[in-house]
Amino acid sequence: MYDQASGLRKLAQEKKSSAKTIVITSGKGGVGKSSFAVNFALSLGKKGKRVAILDADLGLANLDLLLGMSATYNLKHLLEGQKRLSEIILSAPYGVKLIPGGSGIVELANLSELKLKGLIEAFGVLDPYLDYFIIDTGAGINKQVLAFALAADEVFVVTTPEPTAQADAYGIINVLQKGNLALPVNIVVNQADSIFHGEMVYQRLKLICKKFAAKDVGLIGIIPSDITVSKAIRHQVPLIIYQPKSKAAVAIDQAASCYLAISASTLSEKNQVPTHKGFSGFLERMARLLR
Ligand SMILES: Nc1ncnc2c1ncn2[C@@H]1O[C@H](COP(=O)(O)OP(=O)(O)OP(=O)(O)O)[C@@H](O)[C@H]1O
Ligand SMILES: [Mg+2]
Repeated sequence: MYDQASGLRKLAQEKKSSAKTIVITSGKGGVGKSSFAVNFALSLGKKGKRVAILDADLGLANLDLLLGMSATYNLKHLLEGQKRLSEIILSAPYGVKLIPGGSGIVELANLSELKLKGLIEAFGVLDPYLDYFIIDTGAGINKQVLAFALAADEVFVVTTPEPTAQADAYGIINVLQKGNLALPVNIVVNQADSIFHGEMVYQRLKLICKKFAAKDVGLIGIIPSDITVSKAIRHQVPLIIYQPKSKAAVAIDQAASCYLAISASTLSEKNQVPTHKGFSGFLERMARLLR
């Protein structure tokens, strides 16, 4: 059994950097956000990045099950002072950390100043030792999901080729654009019949976002429809471990590689070092947005 406290200590001994927060969301439900979030995070972990995932679905928090684990404690226990951060964190493969949100996610919307300060302090210890903090949300345009997305450094909007999913993806992007013009928003086309079809879906969405919301949206990846995804879920083993050579696993892995390559080249082009403020910065922004 993983020793949580020594795991955190080990993490803290590693090199410092700033964590980038990525919120994964969608307009329509059931498009594959959680499957993508878990496997994308593991793929980044496999490539040597230090990654944490927050399971922030208000309704059906189940990332622990997708990772073959079972969460006993969650953010609520941390907020209520019953457990420390090191006691609620679960350790997944490739060094990825999972923070189960549970009903603590609802409480994030109504935090007292004192609790917010405590939470920021707790995550402030972890933040410098992570590269990416991935937040998997529920679907749809509600106040909390919007505050999450608007507080992030970057948002991935997942859609499928279904017209309803595409229309809802545009809907959420349009609202995000009104909230923050500068927020980087990127698309994941999941359950595509082919790469060609997925590319068409992305191009169409890109055009609509540009025309009607004056928003440039990038592409994270096109993930094919693959029966192996549901087989992996049934076996409670993450897809990229269950069948790394399956079509969907290869596509997610490629998406992660391209994402890292593009992030690195954008930074070096601008001669910049990352300036993200981690999950604690995210919490501050989110609390401001919800006030
Ligand atoms: N690339 C894929 N190919 C085939 N099936 C997929 C693919 N991605 C996801 N699925 C299936 O879609 C279903 C929903 O996936 P998932 O739970 O990840 O969606 P979600 O967007 O997180 O849902 P919710 O909105 O309820 O949080 C799962 O049962 C999964 O098997
Ligand atoms: Mg989900």
